[in-house]
Amino acid sequence: MIVLGIETSCDETSAAILRDGKIISSALYSQVEHSLYGGVVPEIASRAHMEKIDTIVSNVIGESKLQLKDIDLLAVSDSPGLAGALLVGISYALGIHSAHNTPVTGVNHLEGHISALFLSNPQIPVPFLALVVSGGHTAIYLVENFGKYRCIGQTVDDAAGEAFDKAGKLLGFRYPAGRAIENEAAKASGADLVKFPVAKVSGTRPDFSFSGLKTALRYFINSKSEEYVQENKAALCKAFQKAIIDSLAKNIQTATEITGIHTIGVVGGVACNGRLREEFMEKFGEHTYFPPPNLCTDNGDMIAMAGYLRAKHNRCQFPRMNPSAAL
Ligand code: KG4
Ligand code: ZN
Repeated sequence: MIVLGIETSCDETSAAILRDGKIISSALYSQVEHSLYGGVVPEIASRAHMEKIDTIVSNVIGESKLQLKDIDLLAVSDSPGLAGALLVGISYALGIHSAHNTPVTGVNHLEGHISALFLSNPQIPVPFLALVVSGGHTAIYLVENFGKYRCIGQTVDDAAGEAFDKAGKLLGFRYPAGRAIENEAAKASGADLVKFPVAKVSGTRPDFSFSGLKTALRYFINSKSEEYVQENKAALCKAFQKAIIDSLAKNIQTATEITGIHTIGVVGGVACNGRLREEFMEKFGEHTYFPPPNLCTDNGDMIAMAGYLRAKHNRCQFPRMNPSAAL
C-alpha cells in the first residue's frame, strides 16, 4: 500500500510517501519566517504553507518515481493545529482526492507523533506509555494499541517545548529555541548556579506545569545584571533544561507506577533533546524508545504512517478539521 502523508498543522510544511509502512521519500520545509517573532505567527504560517506545499508534494512524488495516480491513500493532519495552517494541507489533499479519486483520511497530529514510534521502532511492545512532548503539547498517553489511547497526565498550562521557546526569548535565542538552549547548556561546567523549581500539580495525576518555571527564570534574570546573565548563560540554560527534564522523568515514573506499564516511548520535538534521551535511558533503561530526531519534530512521514495504520485498523475517516481536538 502506497500512502502519501501531508503535514501542515504548525510551522513545518512536510510530505512523505511510504510503501507498506516504509519510507520511500520525504521532504520538509521548516518555516524560518517566525524566528524574529519569538513564536509562530498563524497568518505567516498559513501563507508559507501555501507557498511551499506544491513544491514539497512534487518533490516527494518525483523522488519516489511514482505518479499521483499510484497513491493508494492520502493521509493529512486534520487536528489539532493552527486553523489556517491545517486548511492548507487539507485543501491540498482534497484537491488530489477530487482529481484522482484517491481515498483520503484525516489524521490526528498527536496520533501522528505516536505513529513515528511504530515507524522507527516497529518492535516496540504494546501497551506502552507515550510521552508526547512538543511545542504545542505535553501529555502522557497509555497506548493500549494503535488507536486506543488513554490520557494519564498532561500540562495544565505551557507545553515543554513552549517553555524552552519562551526561555529562549528571555535569553536572546531565536525561535524555536530548544536546540539552542541544549547546545548552550552543554557548555556549562562546574557546580550548578541555580536550581529552578519543578512545579507539582495538585492531585494524583502526573500532570505538568511549566509556566511557573518560565516566570522563575524571568525573576532570576531581572534580579541580575546584563553582564552576569551573559556570563552565566550556559549555566542558566543547563538549570532550566534540567528542571524540564526532571519534571518529565518524575511524571513518567509516576505514570509507570499508576499503570504498571514500564515501556516508554518519547515523541515530539523536545524528544530530540540529547540530555533528555540520556536521562531517560539512565532512569528507564532499555525499555525506552525514541524515534530519530528527524521523526520527532513535525514531519509528513509520521502522518503517512498514521494513515497506513488507520487503513490497517479500518479507522480511515474523511478529514474533519477541529483545530483544538485532543487525541
Ligand atoms: O513536534 P514539534 O516540531 O512541533 C509541535 O508539534 O509543537 O516540536 C517543536 C518544539 C519546539 O518548541 C522546539 O523548541 C522543541 O520542539 N525542540 C527542542 C529541541 N529540538 C526541538 N526542545 C529541546 N531540545 C531540543 N533539542
Ligand atoms: Zn507536532
